[in-house]
Amino acid sequence: MTGGALFGHRLATLLAKRRAKTAERPDVLAKAINRLGPSWVKMGQFLATRPDVVGAEIAVDLSGLQDRMATFPESLARAEIEASLGRPIDDLYARFDPPVAAASIAQVHPAEVMGETGLRKVAVKVVRPGVRQRFQRDLEVFYLLSELQERFIPSSRRLRPVEITRTLEQTTRIEMDLRLEAAALSEMAENTKDDPGFRVPAVDWERTGRDVVTMEWIDGIKMSDVAGLKAAGHDLDTLADTLIQSFLRHTLRDGFFHADMHQGNLFVDPSGQIVAVDMGIVGRMGKMERRFLAEILYGFITRDYRRVADVHFEAGYVPARHDPASFAQAIRAIGEPIHGQPAETISMARLLTLLFEVTELFDMETRPELVMLQKTMVVVEGVARTLNPKFNMWKAAEPVVGGWIRDNLGPKRIAGDIREGAIAAFKLAEQLPELAARTRAFVTEVGTMAENGLRFDAATSEAIGKAEARHTRSGRVALWIIAAALVWLALAIHPIW
Ligand SMILES: Nc1ncnc2c1ncn2[C@@H]1O[C@H](COP(=O)(O)OP(=O)(O)O)[C@@H](O)[C@H]1O
Ligand SMILES: [Mg+2]
Repeated sequence: MTGGALFGHRLATLLAKRRAKTAERPDVLAKAINRLGPSWVKMGQFLATRPDVVGAEIAVDLSGLQDRMATFPESLARAEIEASLGRPIDDLYARFDPPVAAASIAQVHPAEVMGETGLRKVAVKVVRPGVRQRFQRDLEVFYLLSELQERFIPSSRRLRPVEITRTLEQTTRIEMDLRLEAAALSEMAENTKDDPGFRVPAVDWERTGRDVVTMEWIDGIKMSDVAGLKAAGHDLDTLADTLIQSFLRHTLRDGFFHADMHQGNLFVDPSGQIVAVDMGIVGRMGKMERRFLAEILYGFITRDYRRVADVHFEAGYVPARHDPASFAQAIRAIGEPIHGQPAETISMARLLTLLFEVTELFDMETRPELVMLQKTMVVVEGVARTLNPKFNMWKAAEPVVGGWIRDNLGPKRIAGDIREGAIAAFKLAEQLPELAARTRAFVTEVGTMAENGLRFDAATSEAIGKAEARHTRSGRVALWIIAAALVWLALAIHPIW
């Protein structure tokens, strides 16, 4: 073993041992990172969305990271706004109140603006002073670390640590420029202006700059407050359906979605409309990715696994050296059990998660936008299920996915594939409720598969064995090393934040 690998191996073993001891306290990792400061929290949150990189267990631990911090003084916020907008606070706002929430990058103040029709309440989000410089400093450490890793720990190269750092830098830069958040809100507002049940706060561009965004104040109940929503008389089942439909509409129709749609960022206003805030992170899907996604969902719905497989090859996502028939077989292994499940337990997010697991076995390159979509879908579906535990994903999705497919793929498909395609396309709407009828038999199947890995015939099991070995040995170990090295360096370089 080389020196570097040996070092890494030791660290990995050490961490693995420590982990075993602290198994009952899974928040240990999250707490440690929280103490290290904002950039580390960001890195942790980012890695939480990459179980392919850190392994499923660490990803779960990291997902407990809460980006909540102490507020910074109001005087600093005022000074920053004045500097950013070049106007005195009293000129900008009729009233400016203490912060209501603070995270690593920004904090939010309620305020009032004198408009033509009188006072209107606004939310003012201000960037944390000095956060750019701090983040820049920490990034240098992250880069140094990931470069060292790539150079000295060859097995970590596949996970591309430098690229991960680069992505983190990119997304955080975007998050730290509040004009971009304002632009995202405005783009979303335009896209959704005729949509039922969903909107975003209006941006006040006159009071918006790099370090501050002012928007309409939303007086509503957060989706995290389920009891409150009930008490206010909102129809939770409808809200769950609207949420999923909105998300799918944004994704399929607009190719532009809110990528941070957790309960804390979603309000329900008194009229029952869902209002999403916090658009620092957004996802985009090109036409090809959207078509790809729709074809996949369509393929699963109609049980046309060969088509799902072909789409992957056509898109060039899976290298041509693989055999489409074996690939279709792997996809069938995911799809069939799902068709046997009661509708309310079928998760679209999980389906995509399983799909990505399989595609990885066939060397499909990681598509960041699809990973982001799948992660968001997990979150959105989770919110929908807290609102309605009996939530039926397919029924809720059908009007949007089915409609999109009919509008965008229908005629072309019928022309190209008259016999099967036409029937399938037109049967689609009826097929979906039918899923609910064809149920019961394999209730636990998908859960077991997700936990224990996928079951396959002999033809593909060998490939999986190899990939699993790759995963558990080099993949996991490399990631333990990243985690260990990060924590170690943090402690060595930044004893106190
Ligand atoms: N337009 C708004 N109206 C009312 N409250 C808001 C608004 N925007 C943000 N908030 C409150 O401030 C909190 C933090 O804002 P958010 O944009 O989510 O920033 P962060 O990135 O810190 O999560 C939100 O969870 C919400 O409680
Ligand atoms: Mg938020």
